[in-house]
Amino acid sequence: MSIRFEKVDHEYSPKTPFAFLALQDIDLEFTEGKITAVIGATGSGKTTLVQHLNGLLLPTKGSVTVGEHTIKAGEKLKNVKDLRKNVGLVFQFAEYQLFEETILKDVAFGPQNFGVDELTANEAAKRALKTVGIDEADYEKSPLELSGGQKRRVAIAGILAMQPRLLVLDEPTAGLDPQGAKNMMELFRSINKKSGITIIIVTHNMEHVLDYCDETVILEKGKVIFHDTAREFFENPQYMERARIDAPNIIRFKELCRQRGLEFDRDTLSIEQLARQVAARRKKK
Ligand SMILES: Nc1ncnc2c1ncn2[C@@H]1O[C@H](COP(=O)(O)OP(=O)(O)OP(=O)(O)O)[C@@H](O)[C@H]1O
Ligand SMILES: [Mg+2]
Repeated sequence: MSIRFEKVDHEYSPKTPFAFLALQDIDLEFTEGKITAVIGATGSGKTTLVQHLNGLLLPTKGSVTVGEHTIKAGEKLKNVKDLRKNVGLVFQFAEYQLFEETILKDVAFGPQNFGVDELTANEAAKRALKTVGIDEADYEKSPLELSGGQKRRVAIAGILAMQPRLLVLDEPTAGLDPQGAKNMMELFRSINKKSGITIIIVTHNMEHVLDYCDETVILEKGKVIFHDTAREFFENPQYMERARIDAPNIIRFKELCRQRGLEFDRDTLSIEQLARQVAARRKKK
């Protein structure tokens, strides 16, 4: 399923004194089957960009193609239901959108809303809840009884139950404790590995980009200034500086060593690799 922006502008409140061009001339193609991080400073246009993927926002110039759907500026959105079924968009703090009286009902709501019968919807919901690690004993509980992190998992299950072909997550780990955030990222990786689904994650966490993402897109003032593999991104620290992003600890450590005359391989990007290299050098000496 191709996911492509062509010459896309998005202007908020056009033709008013509040008009604001939040996206400018975006040409971008996301790679199928990969996990892509969308990063950039606050206000750079990340949320605006991803909300075009399920037609929540429409381009004011250019076109967005998602599989067989092409959304052109100035045209009415067609087949919205099918688009929203195929593109699962998880908002930041998605847990605020839980509303049904039980967890199972909440997760089954999506598929039922798309015309699936109750039994099949419940089965899909159970599968999705299992994927996100919610205990069967909790299915009949109210979503309100869960912790923040668990609620967010239920909200994500609600999207997964619709079996989207593209999963878009806007800051899915914001506000979670470090372990909870890590578990969440592990979950996305396992979903990606198991089903091959394309995942787009908006994030401010560079450690997550380093550990879990295949590609990186950087936005700056509504423009794409970089799109390449995550590896290429971390090997070019000038982009992190430009996007005013703090490098992950391992990248900073390598840079500080380099300044002191100790070079490591460019593609050493995990602590394990680094430890191995340090040990090997000590042995040599
Ligand atoms: N509804 C709106 N009306 C007018 N301007 C808006 C609206 N929503 C966002 N903007 C502006 O568009 C720009 C991009 O906003 P967006 O929310 O896409 O940024 P972001 O990169 O997601 O930021 P953050 O990291 O803070 O979530 C910002 O300057 C913002 O003020
Ligand atoms: Mg945002």
